[in-house]
Formats: sequence, structure tokens, C-alpha cells
Amino acid sequence: MPFTLGPRATSAGYRLAAFDQIGSTNAEALSRARAGERGPIWFVTSEQTAGRGRRHRPWIAPRGNLASSILEVLSVSPAVAATLGFAAGLALEAALAKLSVEAALRSPGSDDLKFSLKWPNDVLAGRQKLAGILLEAEAVSDGLAVVVGIGTNVVAAPTDTPTPATSLKALGIDVSAGEVFAALSDGWAGFRGIWDNGRGFAEIRRLWLDRAAGLGQAVAIRSGTEPIEGMFDTIDEQGCMIVRTAAGRRVPVTAGDVYFGNAASVGAR
Ligand code: BTN
Repeated sequence: MPFTLGPRATSAGYRLAAFDQIGSTNAEALSRARAGERGPIWFVTSEQTAGRGRRHRPWIAPRGNLASSILEVLSVSPAVAATLGFAAGLALEAALAKLSVEAALRSPGSDDLKFSLKWPNDVLAGRQKLAGILLEAEAVSDGLAVVVGIGTNVVAAPTDTPTPATSLKALGIDVSAGEVFAALSDGWAGFRGIWDNGRGFAEIRRLWLDRAAGLGQAVAIRSGTEPIEGMFDTIDEQGCMIVRTAAGRRVPVTAGDVYFGNAASVGAR
């Protein structure tokens, strides 16, 4: 499958390494960083056989889906680097919104779809997961190698996931992994610029909250043994989810699986 960068990414100086099939684009990016690669460079494939998901879950991309990782070596702390995941969600949401409008224009009578962002790093269509994002970082001699891995269900979605999943194809958006990647690379160039090594996180946070799933709703977060339950209030200046408990406490959450609405009572079990 041919992959090319979008025009904005090309003129911003991004590079691209495309693979017919690979184990994990995140693993490849980190291995290249250890060997001296400094980026910014994308690693992409439409078939990933040993991909990594959040919380040590696998993320296999059957042929036709998009697995993509952007590598940059930065002079920022790991906590600041973690906020890049919000810029990645915005970049993919922008790309999907553009492709959805174009698909609707090709099929008169059909509506373009709305996507939302689920804390910390998922992109949803309705209540279903369409894409996941995994940030990995490793110290190298001259900074922090930061890899943002983005997996998008283009033609197929898994059936055995904690959150129900869907694909662009199932939603009636007939695009290729290459088309999604070109739009994503342009979206990334834009939102990475706004993020500006963390200096622009206030603006990224504002944009992200505008598209957030479940704000003001009942939420349960599972990360260890005891779930945290309450109402999804906001995200703070570090990107933590702020949960307001029934007792009125505002609890910052740094990681976990999130369940909203009716699913919150199930997720809490
Ligand atoms: C999640 O669990 O929701 C995050 C999934 C992230 C998957 C992507 S696919 C591209 C990149 N390479 C990997 O091995 N993982 C990420």
C-alpha cells in the first residue's frame, strides 16, 4: 500500500519510513532512536503483527488498517511529553472529520460523522472506539525520544475489547489507510505546532475539551484494584482527568480504563 505524507507535513520537513508489514511501528521507532535517529519521522504500515496497546494489551492491525508512529527527540520532561497524546487525538480527529465530509460529499444523502476524544487517548465514533494512541518515551544521549503511536481501524475492528470498537469501513467511510495517513500527517503538523514543546498545552487542552466524550457524565476509572467513581469534571493543566466524587472531592487521575454513563457502574465492578 503506498503511503505519502500530506502537503503540510512535507513542507514542514517530516520524513516517512513505510513498511508493507511490521511487528510494531512503536518498537521500530524506538529502536531507530537508540541507533541515532532524531526525527521527526513517521513509521507506518497497513499490517502490524505484534503491536502494543495501552496497559500492555496487544494491538494487531490486520491488513488495511493503519498503524503509525511519529518519532521526535525532544528536550522536555516525560510529564510534558505525555501531554503530546492530546495533540495526537486532535490531529486524528481533524483528519477523520475531513475524510468524513469528503465521503459524505461523494455519497449524496449521507451525513458526515462526528468524532469525539475519550480520555486519555482514544478517538470515538459515537460510543465505539475507532482509534487508540500509545505514547512511549526513552532517554537518549541528547534528550527524550518520544514516540506517539496511533492505531486506526480503517477496514476492521476487534470484537473482544473492553470498549466496543468500530472501523471507518463499518461506518460507511470508504477510505484507504494511505488516505487516512496523509490527512493525519497534516493534522499532526498543525497540532504539534500548537503544542510547541508543551508551551501551547493550554490551547491544546481547550481544543481537546471542546471535543471531549463524557464531560459532566458519571464515570468510573479502573487502574488498579479500587475503581474511582464520580463525575468527569475536566482535565487539568497536566492532562490528568479530574473526577468529582459524590463527597465533593476533586480527584486527579493519571491513568486507567474509563467507563461512562451506564457502563460506569459496570466498569466499577
Ligand atoms: C490503545 O491501547 O488504545 C493504544 C493502541 C496504540 C496502537 C498503535 S498502532 C501504531 C503504534 N505501534 C504500536 O505497536 N502501537 C501503536
